[in-house]
Amino acid sequence: MSKAISGFSKLSKTQKIQWLSDTYFSGNTETSQLLETYWNSDKKLQQLHDEFIENTITNYYLPLGVAPNFLINDTYYSIPMAIEESSVVAAASKAAKFWSERGGFKTTILGTTKVGHVHFTYNGAYEDLLDFFNRIKPTLISDALPLMSSMKKRGGGLIDIQLVNKTASLKNYYQLHCEFETLDAMGANFINSCLEQFSKSFEERFMEDIRFRESELSIIMSILSNYVPNCLVRAEVSCPVDQLSENEINGQEFAQKFAQAVAIAEVEPYRAVTHNKGIMNGIDAVILATGNDFRAVEAGIHAYASKEGSYKSLTHVHIKNGIFTFWMEIPLALGTVGGLTKLHPLVKWCFELLQHPNAKELMQIVAVAGLAQNFAAVKSLTTTGIQKGHMKMHLMNILNQLEASTSEKGKAISYFKTNAVTHSSVVTFIENLRS
Ligand code: MEV
Repeated sequence: MSKAISGFSKLSKTQKIQWLSDTYFSGNTETSQLLETYWNSDKKLQQLHDEFIENTITNYYLPLGVAPNFLINDTYYSIPMAIEESSVVAAASKAAKFWSERGGFKTTILGTTKVGHVHFTYNGAYEDLLDFFNRIKPTLISDALPLMSSMKKRGGGLIDIQLVNKTASLKNYYQLHCEFETLDAMGANFINSCLEQFSKSFEERFMEDIRFRESELSIIMSILSNYVPNCLVRAEVSCPVDQLSENEINGQEFAQKFAQAVAIAEVEPYRAVTHNKGIMNGIDAVILATGNDFRAVEAGIHAYASKEGSYKSLTHVHIKNGIFTFWMEIPLALGTVGGLTKLHPLVKWCFELLQHPNAKELMQIVAVAGLAQNFAAVKSLTTTGIQKGHMKMHLMNILNQLEASTSEKGKAISYFKTNAVTHSSVVTFIENLRS
C-alpha cells in the first residue's frame, strides 16, 4: 500500500531503496537488486553521480553514440549524441556523409545576448517610475559590480537594463528587462544573481524616495528568460539541385518534393511540431552529451518557432538559379564552462571529442546536428518513407524484447536485410526458428 513519508531525503541510499521496495514492490528484493546493478563499482565515480541531484537511488543509462563526418565550416567533427531512439544517430551520420560530399555545413553566429527580468508591480504614475529608473540606473549597475567584475574582466557582463511598461497586458505590471553577455557560460547563475541584486537595490531606493510614499511596489520575481531570440545561430547547406541525385533519386524531383514538405511544415502546425521534433532529435542528443540544459533549449526553441503567432517549421528551403539551399536559425544559450562540463567524466570526454569548442562553436555544432537530422528525416519521408529505415534500426530492440540469442539475432539480421521489419514479422521469424 502506498503511503506518504517524511524525512525521505535524510535516509541513506540503501534505506531509500528499502522504503521504495517495501512500499511499492511488496518488499521484492529483485527490484532493489536491479537498482544496485546500475551502481558504478568505482565508489568515487558513483558518489559524484549521487551528488548531482537529490534522492539519487541509481544511475539511468542512455546510450552515447557518435555521428562522424560532419564537415562544418571546413572542419571535420565527430558529434557525440546521447539518445535512446534508434535510427537518430544513423540518420545524422548519413546526412553528415551526404553533405560532406557537397561542401559541408556552413554556420554563422547571429547574436549571443542573453536575457533576464525583474518582474514587479507598481501602482503609481508611469512618468514618475521612468524618471526614478533613469536616475537610479547607474546605482543599480554599481551595486551589482562586485558580482559582475570577473565576467566583465573576461569581456562579458551586463549589456543594458531597460524599464518596460507592461500595464497594457497586465494591471500594474512592469519589468526591468536586462541583457547580458555571458561568453562561454550558459550564464543562469550569473544572470540570476545580478537580477536579484538589481531587484534589491531597486526596491531599497524606491522605499527611500519620498515621491513614492503613496505608491506601492512589489517585486514579484527575478529570473533569467530561456527565450533568447538574440542568442542566435544559423546553419545552412547548399548545392546545385542536380547534385542531389542519388541512386534512383532524381535531384530535381527530390528538391521540389523536399521544398514542398518544408512548406507544409511552415503553414501546418500539426506537421510543424513533428518536423521540429525531428530537429530536436539531433539537438537534444548533443545538448545531453555535452551536459547542457535540454529543457531550457527545448522551451526557447519552441517559443522561437511560434514567434510569428503560429507554430512553424524551424527550417526553410529555397531553390534559386538551380541551387538548393536548406537552412535554420535557432536560439541556443549554451555553456562550455561551468555546470556539468568539467564534472561529468563523459561530458568532459565529449568536449575533448569535439576539440574543446567554445560556446559559439558549440552553438554551431548543435545547430548543424539539428539541421542534419531534419534533412535526413524529410529526405526519408519524401522518398522511401520513414518506416523502412526506422524499423531496420528498431529490429535490435524487438529482438532484445524477445530475448533472442546471438545466433538468432544473426539469422534475423540477415533475413530482414531483404524483408520488411514489423513487430509481428520478427515475432513470427523467431518463433519459427525456435519451433
Ligand atoms: C521521429 O523521431 C522524427 C520524425 O517524425 C521527424 C519528422 O517527421 O520529420 C521522423
